[in-house]
Amino acid sequence: MSNKDLNPAETLEIADGKAKAPSRGLGVIRVFAPATVANVVCGFDVLGFAVNEPGDEVEMRLTDTPGVIIKRITGDDGKLPLDAAKNTVSASVQHYLKHINRMDVGVEIELHKKMPIGSGLGSSSASTVAGLYAINKLMGDLLTAKELVPFAMKGEELACGYGHADNVAPAIMGGFVLVRSYEPLDIISLPTPVGMYAAIVYPQVDVPTKDARQMIRSKVFLKDAVTQWGNVAGLVSGLFMNDFDLIGRSMKDVLVEPTRSILIPGFEVMRNLAMENGAIGFGISGSGPSVFALTKDEETAKKITKAQQQHLHKLNINSKAFVSSINAEGPRVL
Ligand code: HSE
Repeated sequence: MSNKDLNPAETLEIADGKAKAPSRGLGVIRVFAPATVANVVCGFDVLGFAVNEPGDEVEMRLTDTPGVIIKRITGDDGKLPLDAAKNTVSASVQHYLKHINRMDVGVEIELHKKMPIGSGLGSSSASTVAGLYAINKLMGDLLTAKELVPFAMKGEELACGYGHADNVAPAIMGGFVLVRSYEPLDIISLPTPVGMYAAIVYPQVDVPTKDARQMIRSKVFLKDAVTQWGNVAGLVSGLFMNDFDLIGRSMKDVLVEPTRSILIPGFEVMRNLAMENGAIGFGISGSGPSVFALTKDEETAKKITKAQQQHLHKLNINSKAFVSSINAEGPRVL
């Protein structure tokens, strides 16, 4: 999307590639950014994809008073910090403004949480990305989507102690994304097979990403590494070849899932329900507790989430379900 997509009254004038100093009341924007499924089972920290729902919304206004402030947060039950230095949205916007040498700009942010926090669906990532997309749009699209990724990674670092990119990159760029390397950062957009759906179930138990990262062992056996990189390569090939069977065969994780799945009630039963009902593959979404299945169509995805929610209900665990096609566009102006 370009500057022309904004209401003309809200469009900033650009001179020599730099946004002119904003005037009070000029530049208001509301942006949606999507939830994401990180890891895609075998690709810990390197693979992710975006979905159409859920997601978060940020409303951003430029002001004449330099500095970034969080004016209001809704839908978070008071869990998120209003302190601009501690909130992932404002902190990453500050990094962005510093980078483009516009610390004179004033920014007021309203964050509207529309998705569960700590669900494994890239909740902090969706908020951060909505904010970065909004400020970049207001400043006249100075950076490309891919160039925004490092600023969003700063937000992840604040949220969970490590700046992983497998949520923020697909949230910004849409579709499936591979983080080929972190140093230097090398991010590759992958194709989305036609007709693919994601069936996501969020069992409402608490699994903070920070804890879920600490429990993983840091050394692996070569035999397991061989299995894992074979699967990552297989999954990427399957996406390029539109080969659902290959994608399914490759959605296996011998490194992280065996440890993390212990925290997710009914995990193995939910896997069986997914596979019996026609899933291509099944696994943990990000660090959990959400689980996801990929399917060839919407109907199969709905059947799977229904069966899994019924099972969680029997275990006395509340859950939420999301059925979505793969989000190809990333954030959008509302
Ligand atoms: N790759 C990250 C992890 C994603 O698994 O910890 C967190 O959502």
